[in-house]
Amino acid sequence: MKKRLFTGVEDDYCASHAIGHQAQHYAARFAAKEAWIKASGIAIAWREIEVVNRAGTGVPDLILHGQTAAASRAAGIARALLTITHAGDLAVAQVTCLGRR
Ligand SMILES: CC(C)(COP(=O)(O)OP(=O)(O)OC[C@H]1O[C@@H](n2cnc3c(N)ncnc32)[C@H](O)[C@@H]1OP(=O)(O)O)[C@@H](O)C(=O)NCCC(=O)NCCS
Repeated sequence: MKKRLFTGVEDDYCASHAIGHQAQHYAARFAAKEAWIKASGIAIAWREIEVVNRAGTGVPDLILHGQTAAASRAAGIARALLTITHAGDLAVAQVTCLGRR
């Protein structure tokens, strides 16, 4: 199941945290993918929606791949803004899709 949902980058990031904290990072990434699907209306493959963290700051970004990236471009989505928060057994993600001007 994990391999169907998460990319190697995501798996490495979540697994790099202490065992007791890993689940909230995985849950946040699942929430982010689901939020992107709902905001964009595009649902093709979980692993084509990837959450990465900027080096240095940890700010999360969404990177789209393959057919999902193509469908996003075709729908006129220029950028997707992501915010993530988690504490204990709760994880929340919000995505805002921005169109071309
Ligand atoms: C930004 C900050 C408030 C997040 O606090 P936190 O308690 O780690 O936040 P939460 O547990 O609610 O959320 C964690 C998520 O916040 C996101 N995050 C981390 N740093 C972030 C940042 N600088 N900006 C936005 N989001 C950030 C990550 O996606 C993280 O989840 P992940 O590790 O699973 O990807 C905290 O890191 C902070 O105060 N940093 C110091 C200030 C700072 O780094 N500023 C950077 C630019 S000015």
